[in-house]
Amino acid sequence: MPVTETLRPDEAGLSRAADLLRAGELVAFPTETVYGLGGDARSDLAVARIYEAKGRPRFNPLIVHLPDVDAARVLGDFDQRAERLALAFWPGPLTLVLPLRPDTGLSPYVTAELPTVALRVPAHPVASALLRAFGGPLAAPSANPSGRVSPTRAAHVIEGLDGRIAGVVDGGACAVGVESTIIGLDGPAVLLRPGGVPAEAIEAVLGHPLQQGGSTVKPTAPGQLASHYAPGAAVRLTASRPEPGEVWIGFGPGCEDADLSLSATGDLVEAAANLFHLLREADRLAGPDGRIAIAPIPEAGLGRAINDRLRRAAAPRP
Ligand code: TXA
Ligand code: MG
Repeated sequence: MPVTETLRPDEAGLSRAADLLRAGELVAFPTETVYGLGGDARSDLAVARIYEAKGRPRFNPLIVHLPDVDAARVLGDFDQRAERLALAFWPGPLTLVLPLRPDTGLSPYVTAELPTVALRVPAHPVASALLRAFGGPLAAPSANPSGRVSPTRAAHVIEGLDGRIAGVVDGGACAVGVESTIIGLDGPAVLLRPGGVPAEAIEAVLGHPLQQGGSTVKPTAPGQLASHYAPGAAVRLTASRPEPGEVWIGFGPGCEDADLSLSATGDLVEAAANLFHLLREADRLAGPDGRIAIAPIPEAGLGRAINDRLRRAAAPRP
């Protein structure tokens, strides 16, 4: 595949993107969390291409993106908890893992032959418009080579996947900046991945605490592997001061002389939106064999998702 087309988020661009997807090609598109690498979730070939383009070491289940809750109900069994969460947070950065309904037509590669399916209705207007133009479910992991930092701009997608995918719809920078929160509902409600919807907000709607799944349940997800979201440089966490030679990423007041800042005012929403872009910037500044130090981030609200990604960025590399 010689060139990756950059498409505008207008009618012509989306119609071209939908045509490519119908032909079984891959098109990256913006969501409110990160850019997704979209492929027809009903096509074995398209889904296999997703794994190939990302260089994923093995088949892991993918999130299926839908335009609305009605389309999601066709694929997954919604109980009362799922209905309440969908009503409260869709469209938005929440993924529900539900029992898979029979005869959905989904490729078995999407679910990795599990009896469950991960469903999400994204809030980004370009994602919604593309899903409607395409008219089917889109499997979409983050649009980055496996193990690297997730893309929050079209340029990040091109950096990692140029020539490996048919197109990318350029919808500017992603507002949320970390991936969706994943809640498992095929048993007691469990937090499988912290993300764009704070776990506290989900617990408030459910009326009880979530079980903490994370890495203790079977690590089917690349998002659950210890080292993930890794920049090239070594990463040191909770660094209230940099050591000589480190590129320091600050957060909040007291980090005025940091090289980069996630949020000067200590705003966690702003920090999440900046996270992956600043990790890339810091990596560039640090250079080969460089080192990055990151200021402490509070472990609450979106801070849980940010710290989760940072711990993976700092974990020993395989
Ligand atoms: O924000 C997001 O969720 C982004 C944007 C593009 O929508 N997508 C994303 O997809 O992060 P991906 O493929 O990188 O993450 C999929 C995660 C994996 O950690 C996988 O284990 C989990 O979803 N997952 C998918 N199906 C599952 C299932 N049936 N049971 C448990 N986990 C599942
Ligand atoms: Mg990812």
